[in-house]
Order: sequence, then C-alpha cells, then structure tokens
Amino acid sequence: STEDLNRYLDEAVAAAQEAGNLMLECFARNDAQASVEEKSSPADLVTKYDRQVEELVLKRLRTAAPDFRVLAEETANKEELTDAPTWIVDPIDGTTNFIHRQAECCVLIGLAVKKKAVLGVCFIPKLDELYTAVQGRGAYCNGRRVVSSGCKDLTTALVNLHLPSYSRGPKVVDRILGISRDLLAHPIRAMRCGGSAGVDMVHVARGRLDAYFEVGIYPWDVCAGQVIVEEAGGVCCDTLGGDFDLASRRVLVAASPELASQLAVHLRNHSYSSVEAE
Ligand code: IPD
Repeated sequence: STEDLNRYLDEAVAAAQEAGNLMLECFARNDAQASVEEKSSPADLVTKYDRQVEELVLKRLRTAAPDFRVLAEETANKEELTDAPTWIVDPIDGTTNFIHRQAECCVLIGLAVKKKAVLGVCFIPKLDELYTAVQGRGAYCNGRRVVSSGCKDLTTALVNLHLPSYSRGPKVVDRILGISRDLLAHPIRAMRCGGSAGVDMVHVARGRLDAYFEVGIYPWDVCAGQVIVEEAGGVCCDTLGGDFDLASRRVLVAASPELASQLAVHLRNHSYSSVEAE
C-alpha cells in the first residue's frame, strides 16, 4: 500500500544517511586503502567499510520489514532473486572511487517486488545528494524533483561507459576499445568513464549525463537507480535494446527512448552482451 511504501522509503533514507555518515568518517580518517581486498579480480575490490556499511543498512531494513528477503553485495551465499519483496543493497557502490577518495561513490538501497524495482534510494555523501523515487511518484534529489535531459540525438550526447572490473581479458578489452572507437567516430559529443553505476544512473536522471551503459553489473548496482531514472523520464533497457532485466548483468540507461535505440544499434554491432571473462 502507499502507506507501507512511504514507511519503507523513510527507513531506506534513514539507513542510507547513517551509512553515508560512516563513509564520511572514513574519508576523514583516510584509511580505506589499508583494508583493500580483491574479490573476483584485481579490479574488483572490497574494504572493511563496505562490510560495516552493509551491516548497519541491513540491520535497519530487517527491523523495518522482517518478512522481506535481502540481496546485498557483500553477503556470502547470495540467494536468487524471487518474486517476493526483496531489499537490494549495495552498501558502497563505486568502491574503487571510495578507496581513491573520489566523491563519486554512493549507498544504494532498492526494493524489488516480483523482480521489478519499485523504490530506490541513492545517497552520495560527499556531494550531499540524496536521490529518492517510488514507482509512479517522480524522482527527487534532496526533496526537489529531477528530470532527465530528454536528449534524443547521439551526436549531442554525453555518454558514460564503465571499464569492466570482472575481467581484463583480450576479448573484453577489445570490445571496450571497439565500442569506444565506434562512438567517437559517430561522433558523439563526448565520452566519460565512470566508477559507480549508481552515481551515473542518477546523473542520467538529473541531466548531467545523457547515457550510461555497462555489461557485468549485478542487481544491487542498478535496482535503486532504475526507479530513479525511470521516474525522471529516462529509460533503462538491455544493452541490445530489449526490456531491462535486473538479473541479466546488462544495462543501457538513456535520457530518452530515441537515444537508447541509437546506442543499442552500436552496442549490437559489438555484441555488447556477454560477460565471458575472455
Ligand atoms: C561497481 C561500480 C562500477 C561498475 C561495476 C560495479 P562496486 O560496484 O558500480 O562502476 O563498473 O560494475 O560492480 O563493486 O563498487 O559496488
């Protein structure tokens, strides 16, 4: 019900703010580097702060909604995404940026029902920007409505792509270089390389970027952002242009459906869909 969603939103916001304060304390202490560990590859990192933040966020969410399932980045033995209401949490999205003391890292809390995202919170503590959205009710930053740029033409678009962290094998690197060459030759207006899926999605939502795409993401990287983007008038779809699927490991975010389909043509030319670590 609407009342329940309001309560869940309040709890998610409180959890994200508490988590953001912990991130700010860590920035002040400047000791994240000291606890870096590698996960699936030397480019896939975690720190003790990711775990601490996750613990405090999950504690709050579990108290607010004891019956909901939880899918969170740093939890071992992750369960499948089911139709049941599920909190989807990335405690620190953009861990590499966080370790390098860059502002572009955030706390992401999403709620999915029947495998669809219905509520999203993204807090970027260094920028003091809190993004919130509930399906059908618009997207907000610090309480003010945000809308995407509406850009419809790839030649005027600022496009963000991410360097894959799961693998740096020759095929993966060739694909990144191939799509970059193709987009620059199109020509697009300019290209950026991001370090947080959540931050780049809210940037599309508020018109600072026109598009972002990536293969290799997980539900916790994109669940919260999807609601914020769509409620701001943007589009989330598959990298090849089909419907977005939280569990597919692929995302194409754009300020308009027209822009999404122009980008999808280029991505299809480069078979931008596989996560094979070759
Ligand atoms: C990562 C970041 C990064 C993206 C990766 C994500 P993490 O999340 O969002 O920008 O390229 O796909 O896994 O590991 O920092 O939470």
